[in-house]
Order: sequence, then structure tokens, then C-alpha cells
Amino acid sequence: MKINILEDYQELSQAAATILIDRVKKNPKSTLGLATGGTPKGTYQQLITDHHQNGTSYQHVTTFNLDEYLGLAGENPNSYRYFMNAQLFHHIDIKIENTLIPNGVTMNTVEECQRYEQLLEAKGGVDLQLLGIGSNGHIGFNEPGTSFESRTHVVDLASTTIKANARFFPSIEEVPKQAITMGIGTIMKSKEILLLVSGEQKKAAVQRLLSGEVNEEFPASILNQHPNVTILMDKAAAGQ
Ligand code: GLP
Repeated sequence: MKINILEDYQELSQAAATILIDRVKKNPKSTLGLATGGTPKGTYQQLITDHHQNGTSYQHVTTFNLDEYLGLAGENPNSYRYFMNAQLFHHIDIKIENTLIPNGVTMNTVEECQRYEQLLEAKGGVDLQLLGIGSNGHIGFNEPGTSFESRTHVVDLASTTIKANARFFPSIEEVPKQAITMGIGTIMKSKEILLLVSGEQKKAAVQRLLSGEVNEEFPASILNQHPNVTILMDKAAAGQ
């Protein structure tokens, strides 16, 4: 694992964007795995600025998002589809049909999960996966105890995750209790992983990740076994 400690959130976002832009320039047909949450917002902002200033093009890029809340349609401002459109897709030249996110209002979750895996496979998998981490070590929405072999599946969100994500909703009661997420096995198949960690509240998670212990009770710990992971963290997350 490569570890890069940045001064603050701004520098972290810049460093992450630089890596993403480099990969897209090297391979304009890249398949990117994208994440939601507060952490990647600054990165997306930098990608937009770069797109406008330097013309980096996403015309031939395909994206797969990690997860989506069950029960939220794309028009719902709290859905991850809405988040991605607003934070990134509507501000760059990507073709919206090439931006894949699980369908949160599917009538058949089993089929939807299979469809997502098939789409990923047809694309030859993710070239670069952007990841955040939950305080409990979750990646995507894979909560503690999720099998390392798991593929795209429906999850019950941990109460700590519901609480952490309530800040984006009008009230905690409105946070969905379930989501569709790429599995840990799915995430591990990406060729390269970029994990972003920001803020003091992630300090304990970082320490546990870097302890090297690999345990399904701490989902992110599997990253210790991936051959090409870069962790970008700010000083607050690094405990400095
Ligand atoms: C959310 C998302 C994850 C994200 C994590 C951390 O629940 N499903 O993909 O990495 O929690 O979010 P944040 O960056 O806001 O701390």
C-alpha cells in the first residue's frame, strides 16, 4: 500500500484529482469506480475545474458507482444518482448513459445486482476505484461482517452508518435502512484503488487499517491484500 499524507482536505482533493486525471489522460476509455459521501466532493470539484481549464475529456469514460440507497429514485436529492449528477456528471462532458449506478427503485433487487455485475464484467472491470471509508471500516456500503467474497448485493445499513449519513437528510427517519452495494469481492477486482481519508473522526479507522490485521469485522482491512492501493489521507486523519 502506498500512503501519502497531505496537509489538509484541499490538498488531498487536489492529489486525488491529479491521479484520476492522469489515468483518464493515459487511457481516455478508462472505467472509473466512483464513490459518494462527503470525502470525494472536493475531488469532483477539482475534476470540474480541470475539465473547464484544461479540457480533460470524459467522453469515452465509463463510471460505476459503488452503491445506491434502496427506495430512492434518481430524482430524489438524497439518492446517490442525484448526488453524482449534481457533484460531477452534469459539469463534465461524460455521456450520462455511461454513468452506471445501481437502480434504487428496482422491482427485483436480485436481478438488479446481477445486472450490475454483468455490466461490470462486460466492461472488463474497473480500472481505478475511488473509495472512502466509514468510521466502522465500511467500504461502499459493506458493513462489518460482510464476506470478503461478496459481489453486488443488498445490505442492511448499520445504525452507526444511518446516524453518520443522517446529516444529508432532513431527519434521521428519512435515511433508508437498506442499500445496494458492490461487494467486497467486486471492489477487490478493480485494477487500482485510491482510498481517500479525511478528518480526525477517521483516525481510529486509519490506525486499524494500517495495523495490517485482515478481518471481515473491519471490511477495509482487505485492502491490505490488494496489489495496487494508494491511500491519500490528510494530517487530521493521520493523527498528526
Ligand atoms: C457512505 C458511503 C461510502 C463512503 C462512506 C464515508 O455511507 N456509502 O461509500 O465512503 O460512507 O462517507 P464520508 O466520506 O461522508 O465520510
